[in-house]
Parts: sequence; structure tokens; C-alpha cells
Amino acid sequence: MKDSFTTTHKVLYNDSRDMSGIEPNTVNLIITSPPYPMIKMWDDVFNSMNIDIGNELNIGKGERAFELMHQELDRVWDECFRVLKNGGIMCINVGDATRTIKNNFQLYSNHSRILSYCLKKGFHNLPNIIWRKTTNAPNKYMGSGMLPVGAYVTLEHEYILIFRKGLKREFKSQLEKSQRRKSAFFWEERNQWFSDIWFNMTGANQNLNNKELRERSGAFPFELAHRLINMFSVYGDSVLDPFLGTGTTTIASIVNGRNSYGFEIDHNFQTVIESWIIHSINLSKAVLKNRITQHLNFINEREKEKEVKYYNSNYSFKCVSNQEKDLVFHQLLKITELDDNSFSAVLKELLAEQMEEMLHQKIKHNIKNTQQKLKNNRNQLNLI
Ligand SMILES: C[S@@+](CC[C@H](N)C(=O)[O-])C[C@H]1O[C@@H](n2cnc3c(N)ncnc32)[C@H](O)[C@@H]1O
Repeated sequence: MKDSFTTTHKVLYNDSRDMSGIEPNTVNLIITSPPYPMIKMWDDVFNSMNIDIGNELNIGKGERAFELMHQELDRVWDECFRVLKNGGIMCINVGDATRTIKNNFQLYSNHSRILSYCLKKGFHNLPNIIWRKTTNAPNKYMGSGMLPVGAYVTLEHEYILIFRKGLKREFKSQLEKSQRRKSAFFWEERNQWFSDIWFNMTGANQNLNNKELRERSGAFPFELAHRLINMFSVYGDSVLDPFLGTGTTTIASIVNGRNSYGFEIDHNFQTVIESWIIHSINLSKAVLKNRITQHLNFINEREKEKEVKYYNSNYSFKCVSNQEKDLVFHQLLKITELDDNSFSAVLKELLAEQMEEMLHQKIKHNIKNTQQKLKNNRNQLNLI
């Protein structure tokens, strides 16, 4: 088979405070979202890591509980530092928390606590992203409503903290250079993805994950993992999520031709993760078709105003820069379950004639099917 390759995906139902199954300096990219300290839905998870946390909360010591919760997360960041390669990137999606304890409403700044720990640990911080969410939260008017001075600002954003271990990654050999060029993204994608504010992420992929499940499991959208993977890794790299949840990072890795590891402490997520993985072939087609269609639309619009000079050498469509010339897409052909919660995925280069065919095809995402499965699994997960 021409230009096909296989990736492997391992889900470990273990505690990521100990990732000794992963060799040091082997991971290229970490994408994750931890349980958020001081958000009530995660109290039990933290308490199961250290029972003093529950005790401190019970006696109204909010700041002490906050610190103890972060000390448990610190152990995961230590492990992330150990397994990440030099030049590797770690992206942490986290929101701050507000909470009233003993009649005192205050902010618990998760992002700044994680940021200062990771800097102490030796990570370098790169410009971070603010993910601005549209919210219909009932607590929009928290505090004294329209009366000064006791009204509170609403948290409508989360952070994506971006760190690098060591210095900038280098692509030295011909093979590495070529892999990097094949993994390029479009000029217009770069403009959107590398903005420091991401607005509510929409698009073909946004609806794939059942909304209710996403909220109740703290899942981030597929689009978030998809973008970060394309921004900070190349085909064949290895991606890790130490707090895997519903498996979004694994799915985005499968679709984008990266290998992955995911740690999840709660075994109940297994059925959800596996049903996502099994349905990822149609998702892969939908993602490809969406990227290509958006690019062709973009070029159409741009050419009304400006000359577009370059051609992609694989697909002959136009592109804005020379760096997009070798960009190549891979489609997912096959998913196989291996032993012990591992999966292999076979991907093959998308040929120009297949791209044409794909653009005229109606792709059934199988969203309904996926969502139905996820719904069925919600009962097992106790999410409703
Ligand atoms: C915010 S959720 C992650 C959601 C995920 N990004 C997704 O898209 O579904 C955090 C997850 O971390 C898991 N978790 C908490 N502590 C853990 C630990 N020490 N090791 C592994 N997983 C843990 C929780 O069970 C939960 O599923």
C-alpha cells in the first residue's frame, strides 16, 4: 500500500501521578485538562487522592484545600516533565474557580497556580491561549445583581497554558524535514489557530461529542485537541493525555496520524472511549472534507481580492504560501483492537483523485450512531 503507516493508541486505566510505564523523554506533545481544583464536581476525585482535602473543605479552609489539590496535580506535571522530550510541548486546558466557603466568595486561580509550579519545575512558558466560551450560565449575575459593590465578574473563559521543555525542537534529517512539511497547516488555519483568543469552537466536529456528556465529564471539544495536535506535532509523533476522560485527545490523535497514550483513573469511561475509537473512521473523513472544503472556499474568496501564487504539489489546489506546498492529508482506513486496551490505526495518503471524489461524496459522519452509543453508556457512567 503506497504511503500508508500505522499508529498505536494505548489507554491506561491508571493513576497518572505515576506514569512509570512510559519511558523518559519519549513523548512529543501533551494535551490535557485536569480535574479543576475547587470546582465541586471534582471534590470527590481530589478527596480520593488525599483525604485531608475533604477535611479542610469541611472545616472551611478553602485556600488550604486548594493548595492540597494542586499538590496532587503537581505530581502529574512532574511526570509530564519526565516523559516529555526536549523541545516537546505541553498544553494544559484549565479554568479558574469561584466558590463561597464560610460566607466568603472568592476566586481560586487554578491557571496561575499551575503556571507558577510548571515554571519552577523547569518548563518554559510560551504565549498562552484564552478560550472564550459563550455561556448561558445561571450565575451570570453573581452577587448583588444590579447593586454595587457586591456583584461579581463572571468567568467566561478558560486558559490553554502552553509550555515547552527545553529549547525549540529541531528537524535535522531529510526525513524529519519532509515529515514536518507534510504536516503543514493552511495559512488561514494558522491565522485562526495562533490567535491568543479562541472563541467558542464550532465547525463540523463540534457536534460529534454529545453536549450533555461533554459538560458532565468536563470534556473539551474535539476541535480543541485537533488544533493543538496540528499546531504542535507532526505525523507519527507521540501524544499523551494524563487525564483522558472521554478520550478526545486519543480520537484527535488517531484522526491526525499521531500515536497516543491516555491515562484515565475512572474505569467507567472505558465503554465511551472505545465507542469513540471504533467510530473514528467516518469522523476522519468528515474532518478531512471539512478542512479541504474550507480551504477551497477561502481561496475562492481571497482570489477576488488578491493573487494567490502557490500550488499544493499533491492536490494542485492553490495556497497562500510556499510552506503549504507539500502539505499532505492522510485518511484513516482501519482500526484494530489489540490486547490490553491498545488500538492500532492504519492511515494512507489521500490521493488527488480521492480528494475529488470525497468532495462530491456525502459523508455520513455516523454522528447519530456515535451519540446513541454514548447515550447508552451514560447510564453506566452515572452521568444522568
Ligand atoms: C476534565 S476531565 C478530562 C476530560 C477530557 N479532556 C475529555 O475531553 O473527555 C479530567 C479527567 O481526569 C480523570 N482523573 C482525575 N484524576 C486522575 C488521575 N490521578 N489519573 C488519571 N486520571 C485522572 C478524571 O476521572 C476525569 O475523567
